Amino acid sequence: MKKDLILKLEETHTLSHTEWLELLGDFTDEERDFAAERARELTERRFGRRIYFRGIIEFTNYCRNDCLYCGIRRSNGNAVRYRLTEEEILECCREGYGLGYRTFVLQGGEDAYFTDERLCGLIKRIKSDYPECAVTLSVGERSRESYEALYKSGADRYLLRHETANCLLYGKLHPAELSLSNRMRCLRDLKEIGFQTGAGMMIGAPFSTTETLAEDMEFLADFKPQMVGVGPFIPHKDTPFRDYPSGGEKLTLFVLSLVRLMLPDVLLPATTALGTVDGRGRQLGVLAGCNVVMPNLSPLSVRKKYLLYDGKTGVDSDAAEGLRILGKQMEEIGYEVFVGRGDFSEK
Ligand code: 5AD
Repeated sequence: MKKDLILKLEETHTLSHTEWLELLGDFTDEERDFAAERARELTERRFGRRIYFRGIIEFTNYCRNDCLYCGIRRSNGNAVRYRLTEEEILECCREGYGLGYRTFVLQGGEDAYFTDERLCGLIKRIKSDYPECAVTLSVGERSRESYEALYKSGADRYLLRHETANCLLYGKLHPAELSLSNRMRCLRDLKEIGFQTGAGMMIGAPFSTTETLAEDMEFLADFKPQMVGVGPFIPHKDTPFRDYPSGGEKLTLFVLSLVRLMLPDVLLPATTALGTVDGRGRQLGVLAGCNVVMPNLSPLSVRKKYLLYDGKTGVDSDAAEGLRILGKQMEEIGYEVFVGRGDFSEK
């Protein structure tokens, strides 16, 4: 009985491998609704009907990596590369601050131009201009020393999806020079150093199975990240995975609810990818237990160049408009945009 497993997860925050397999295998809409309801109630008790907003600044699409799923992989010759200047990034923060954002997420490809020196300088400037704001980094794999320097400069949080906890699958999604063991090393370092740390995975990535998904859930249960990013895989036309189907919206929503039940305090975004596969995706995400949205603060001129997958939503509206649209979507389902840093805290 899946409902019993859902209740057990809510109560004990853990399941055995066999139980995960049973829960994640073919489920009905009714079972998914049941999980969403349990997750939604839990989220409301814990956070109220408040959704944290994070402004994401996609500051470079140069990337040294060649992940098979990603539109900004280095071997995509069709990607038009750009890199924002420090002044342009600060201008995004200024605009975002005016709109009410108190968290800035700096996301980019793994761009060698952004040495520790440059990134640390940037973080210090943002933190001195906006001392009450949180800075989240999402700039991939770096050395422990580098993470330490970034933390010392004032960065508060770090997003690095583990992508998959299964070694074989990791190898099918990534080029040979990347390894799951280094990914895990990075995640451990980040958490030890003191970052509020985010892990996560794509749902329905090529070659993923119920088995690999169960392993992801077990990894998350064990690692206990403060944030979890989960969205559907969406193909990009200039990647080797162009002909694979998008990951299912229903499975994504089910997994989001289960993540909430497993990690009650987690900061869980309704992702842009979820909003891309369905215009109502982010509303459904919130109704399934999400409590964060991350609207785009990047300059309009570069939006269409930061495409990890095709059809990305939000590339045509500027920061103010994007926030207004999302705010309205949240209001429609009875939630409000919460202005504040929205740090992780344990109940
Ligand atoms: N579809 C969905 N998500 C993707 N990401 C990268 N490429 C895709 C894609 N084609 C996700 C990865 C990465 C995050 C920044 O975006 O999980 O960690």
